Amino acid sequence: MKTALQTSSPLQVETEALVLTLPKGPLAGVAAEVDRATNGALSELLRTEEFTGRALETAVLFRPAGLKAQRLVLAGQGEGPFGVLELWRLAGVVARQLKGRGVHEAAFLLPAGLEAATAVRAIVTGVAAANFEPDTYKSERKPGRQITGLTLLVSAGSDQKALGGAVGEAEIIADGHRFARELANEPSNHLTPTMMGERALAMASAAGLECELIDAARARELKMGAFLSVAQGSAEPPVMMVLRYRGGAPGGPVLGLIGKGITFDSGGISIKPAAGMELMKFDMCGGAATLGAMKAIAALKPKMDIIAIVPATENMPGGRAQKPGDVQRAMSGKTIEVLNTDAEGRLVLADALHYARELGATHLVDSATLTGAVVVALGNVNTGVFANNEEFYSLFERARQRSGEKMWRMPLDGEYADQIKGTVGDILNTGGRWGGAITAAQFLKEFVGDTPWIHLDIAGTAWLEENKGWMPKGPTGAPTYTLIELVRALAEGR
Ligand code: BES
Ligand code: MN
Ligand code: ZN
Repeated sequence: MKTALQTSSPLQVETEALVLTLPKGPLAGVAAEVDRATNGALSELLRTEEFTGRALETAVLFRPAGLKAQRLVLAGQGEGPFGVLELWRLAGVVARQLKGRGVHEAAFLLPAGLEAATAVRAIVTGVAAANFEPDTYKSERKPGRQITGLTLLVSAGSDQKALGGAVGEAEIIADGHRFARELANEPSNHLTPTMMGERALAMASAAGLECELIDAARARELKMGAFLSVAQGSAEPPVMMVLRYRGGAPGGPVLGLIGKGITFDSGGISIKPAAGMELMKFDMCGGAATLGAMKAIAALKPKMDIIAIVPATENMPGGRAQKPGDVQRAMSGKTIEVLNTDAEGRLVLADALHYARELGATHLVDSATLTGAVVVALGNVNTGVFANNEEFYSLFERARQRSGEKMWRMPLDGEYADQIKGTVGDILNTGGRWGGAITAAQFLKEFVGDTPWIHLDIAGTAWLEENKGWMPKGPTGAPTYTLIELVRALAEGR
């Protein structure tokens, strides 16, 4: 998608579609200007209530009088607060409707009330995200149905250089997000741990990142017993990806980004029911988001060091699979009683978190489709956030607000740790029926020591089960945007 800034008047801009976002209420500013130019077409639409300005509502005027644009698209902002998320979705809704009609190019007016650079980023990433189609394996792909040209109309008085920079950054972020969704969308036979490692390696070498692939033999040398215990049931060899970006001064913060990379989760010997099991190809979405964020980071070049670790394996039943009751020794030395082989995510993360600390991470963030329980608690709307450090959490929360992704903090509390006290080993890998998302987080906490750490349980937010106006069903790319914003927050100390 080619994106450009332009300062021409909305009346003069030549485009297939001029997009004007409107809050509920009387016409003001540019909207009033466009209304006058079109001989009151907007006020008439409002009067007849064909368009009311409801959130995500749209109306299209073809060949509007007084405008050079072929179409005028009105897009409702609604009456509530209109921030990054709302604009991102609205831009996506408009883009998907336009490309569905065979329109390839659009010019957006920036809405009032949002900082211009913020609005630019929301529109560019929103349109790019709407361009994504999960149709890799369809015989009849629709590669032509894309928005290929995007113009952002900004006021003549604005800082063109700064906004140009915002466009460039937004394109980089959109590209990382797209990479994450492409990986996440792959079925498990097209993305084994080995193939995921190859994709990470190819991305890293193109982007100028260091990348090491730890195989089973090396993992054994490193005593990654928890990670290997999950892999042992599968015919596919495991891979632990380690990517490094170096941009910081010695002694500065080193962020460890860890992403769960289960390319298929059958549950193992504690096998899952057949209904819906096909979704479990998505169990590497945390790893995909981590790799997508690294792709963007390589291009944004923040002044800090980052280590990304993605433990990838299948979780399968088989003659060599681990069994309920087995005791495994994690890389940290702690022993784990595996009560349920379907609680495998925390096992692979235990070793990845520990290894990130050994490699020098001073801050940790893991992203994982970890528990069904977080979906019970928060549905498909909010990612569950767990943090062991208030200062790091507030920095993270500010970054999240800039990204627009919805998240909700959940508690960590030593009292929950009682539920995972081991009988024959140090800890249990499941904490029983209640508070399942929290006991899973409490399990991970055993492997982060005193390092500031954030755990993102994206089991409910990594995948859309139904089409939305702004995105087709399939991988959402969450929490790629937030990981990128967090890196910038840490690097720039904001
Ligand atoms: N990958 C799943 C989590 C999951 C389950 C995501 C359902 C989306 C929908 C994870 O590995 C898992 O199986 N967790 C178990 C843990 C339990 C055995 C303690 C779960 O949540 O049921
Ligand atoms: Mn599982
Ligand atoms: Zn899983």
